Amino acid sequence: MNVVTLKHIGKTYHLDAVDVPALIDIDLEIRPNCFTVISGPSGSGKTTLLNLIGCIDQPDSGEVIVAGEAVQTLSDDALSDFRARHIGFIFQNFNLLPVLTVRENVEYPLLLARVPAAERKARVAALIEAVGLSDKAGNFPGELSGGQRQRVAIARALAPSPNLVLADEPTANLDSHTGAAIIALMREMQREHHVTFVFSSHDPKVLAEADDAVMIRDGRIENIERREQRGEEAT
Ligand SMILES: Nc1ncnc2c1ncn2[C@@H]1O[C@H](COP(=O)(O)OP(=O)(O)OP(=O)(O)O)[C@@H](O)[C@H]1O
Ligand SMILES: [Mg+2]
Repeated sequence: MNVVTLKHIGKTYHLDAVDVPALIDIDLEIRPNCFTVISGPSGSGKTTLLNLIGCIDQPDSGEVIVAGEAVQTLSDDALSDFRARHIGFIFQNFNLLPVLTVRENVEYPLLLARVPAAERKARVAALIEAVGLSDKAGNFPGELSGGQRQRVAIARALAPSPNLVLADEPTANLDSHTGAAIIALMREMQREHHVTFVFSSHDPKVLAEADDAVMIRDGRIENIERREQRGEEAT
């Protein structure tokens, strides 16, 4: 089963008297346990598309199915709950909470998901170790480099054991060497945690690592390149 199915998605923003069509008739299926990269010029609709897949925003038309759930049929409460359990987010500017330590940032989604304390502690420690930050667990985000912050964001996104992790330009604020290390880490996490990753990116190194590459332009899918799956076999 696909992790995400989008059917005939349309989304138009309304700015004053002007309509800005951001997505036009998007049909897309995201395979499980894959790295899918959404690529396209600035303004082509990548962030809008990720926000719809992540149930942060709703389309004007069409259907969004995530993990078998027709998400538009859910109430607001049910939708927040669904999002907390199934979807992790990684952002270009990391979006960590500055007043929380590394450990607390990673723990935060588990508090929201009401995971019991002992399990929370164990999972947080394992994830912080997996992203190579055990020695920084008590530090604040402001005391970390950009690459380290993005490692925290990856650990946080994976904490609730989501089916799907969405990353909007996750390497855009990193130098190319750090960006490559972050991509390698995400790939490793994707294999280990059996998670589906969907990125938006202009970065050729991210594109090179993709199992599936989706090109969009002016709100339409221009091309989908399905490559041999390098992650692991779909189940
Ligand atoms: N909140 C908004 N209100 C009005 N128009 C918007 C809004 N967000 C995006 N748009 C418009 O929708 C279109 C798609 O924007 P989107 O942010 O999805 O592009 P993008 O591919 O992520 O671009 P970038 O690579 O610059 O991040 C653009 O024309 C943009 O100006
Ligand atoms: Mg964007």
